[in-house]
Amino acid sequence: PIKACLFDLDGVLVDTAKYHYLAWERLAEELGFVFTPEDNERLKGVSRMASLDILLEVGGLELDDATKSALADKKNRWYVEYISHMDEQEILPGALAFLRELRENGILIALGSASKNAMTILNNTGLVPYFDAIIDGTKTASAKPDPEVFLLGARELGAQPQECVVFEDAEAGIEAAKRAGMRSIGIGSPKVLGAADAVVPSLQDMTTVRLLELVSHR
Ligand code: G6P
Ligand code: MG
Repeated sequence: PIKACLFDLDGVLVDTAKYHYLAWERLAEELGFVFTPEDNERLKGVSRMASLDILLEVGGLELDDATKSALADKKNRWYVEYISHMDEQEILPGALAFLRELRENGILIALGSASKNAMTILNNTGLVPYFDAIIDGTKTASAKPDPEVFLLGARELGAQPQECVVFEDAEAGIEAAKRAGMRSIGIGSPKVLGAADAVVPSLQDMTTVRLLELVSHR
């Protein structure tokens, strides 16, 4: 039986990767190197400081911790400005209908996001009322692939890991779900998310019945 669904935010419910990219690219430009969209793929699901480390590696720069922390803050100020203009139009196709259907079927819903800006995004897009529990980067000590974010979500919902299904667009997120003892559905490409129990291109046309079909063999 499925008692709860846990959703990653960025890349699953909303398309914020483009704003992360705008901000990281702007930082790279200031530092004097080019950061491409392909480079940006490596940042999916990766925490803010780990993302900065990847960016600096691309640029061939080694900086001290104080400088790095200032750069991460700067990137975040730009990012926060970008997402302050978000609205419900930026919810990804199929997401809202699926969340509504889960509620109607009595399945509990939690957010499991690494982002410290998750509440801003949920508020701006009107998604807050859909969640029974919200776990984000302000509530966790360890980033995915550590299972902490999903285990906290399940605990707050009163669900056992084996009763939970995780929706994730990042490899590290699928690994986190597995380490938590939960089933998972990858959103994106099977090439990247092959470790998931099933992979779909998006939440478009996702239903409770389809969900049961996708994970029932596990
Ligand atoms: C998500 C995104 C990452 C982002 C991370 C931290 O996992 O996929 O690209 O770096 O959240 O987000 P934050 O808003 O706290 O910088
Ligand atoms: Mg994601």
